[in-house]
Amino acid sequence: MTEARDLFAPATIGDIPVANRIVMAPMTRNRAPGNLPNALMAEYYGQRASAGLIVTEGTAPAANGRGYIDIPGLYSDAQVEGWRGVADAVHAKGGRIVAQLMHVGRISHPDFQEGAQPVAPSAIAAKGDIFTFEGMKPLATPRALEQAEIDALITAYGDAAANAVKAGLDGVEIHSANGYLPNQFLAPNANQRTDQWGGSVENRARFLIAIVESAVKAIGAGRVGVRISPGNPFNDIADPAAEETYEYVTKALGGRGLAFLHILDARPPFDIAAMARRNFGGPIILNGGYDRDRAQADLASGRADFIAFGSKFISNPDLPARLQKGAELAAPDTATFYGGGAKGYTDYPALAA
Ligand SMILES: Cc1cc2nc3c(=O)[nH]c(=O)nc-3n(C[C@H](O)[C@H](O)[C@H](O)COP(=O)(O)O)c2cc1C
Repeated sequence: MTEARDLFAPATIGDIPVANRIVMAPMTRNRAPGNLPNALMAEYYGQRASAGLIVTEGTAPAANGRGYIDIPGLYSDAQVEGWRGVADAVHAKGGRIVAQLMHVGRISHPDFQEGAQPVAPSAIAAKGDIFTFEGMKPLATPRALEQAEIDALITAYGDAAANAVKAGLDGVEIHSANGYLPNQFLAPNANQRTDQWGGSVENRARFLIAIVESAVKAIGAGRVGVRISPGNPFNDIADPAAEETYEYVTKALGGRGLAFLHILDARPPFDIAAMARRNFGGPIILNGGYDRDRAQADLASGRADFIAFGSKFISNPDLPARLQKGAELAAPDTATFYGGGAKGYTDYPALAA
């Protein structure tokens, strides 16, 4: 790579030219009633367009991928129209934005599925509760996906990727982190299938590779990235052989010309960034508790090509300018993270010019 790895220098990520190496991490904000992106969301993302690349909040690629309240989707024409407003708002300010495709699998409840049972690799409930329209409820026991349903989901990821580009978005990030469906397939405690989708690491990774291939076929590898979070126990994920799993996964995702591999570094007992660098071969985004100095250090050492910031972007819409100036950062109000309206969403001011 000839480009200087500096947080504030322009770069390209896959097929996408970006103004800097700062990525806005995907963050669910539960402000899409009817699962439809809207004008308030367009305003929010537009305010944050000085990030080199925005990864949207988790967005369902299929109706049965919904969990939580008021998350957006990318499986209907109305959703495509909604996302067009978001894409236009970000592009008008020179930013770039990809949709995070998030199928929650077993992290759901019939309340989000018109009464139907959530689907997952195996009929094993995750321990925990989920906030529904009627308050907290225990996570439901899912139904194991049938082969035809797995085939339909693989198609759905490709269709959702095509819809993203149709809406004017710059690509997609496949969410295989944080205990959602592709991560459930990878984890032996959530996947006890005895067919080609479970058992060996090759089998457990087969779903992730299949949905990545489906998205690549739809929009091209340079517009498809993948997010992983090895070692993260969130949403009741356990993999005693995570090092072996991710050695395989980072290799299997390599050599395909994918836009990026985005790693939420949950500090597993092995160096996931070094492993990804060795095996993946494309741009690497690192995330998790970064500040400016650690970001610059990881870029300079070659550990990462891009750094994603999450919660800092919630309360600092102009985060890149603040980082560059060494300005003070506003603290986010956690009470308004999930759901509500403009308060705690679009009302954080940028620094006075
Ligand atoms: C309000 C909120 C919502 C989040 N939603 C998502 C999500 O939809 N998809 C995802 O992959 N990660 C999600 N995350 C995790 C962030 O992308 C990121 O990994 C995490 O905040 C750590 O980065 P940070 O220390 O810079 O905040 C969320 C985090 C927060 C704070």
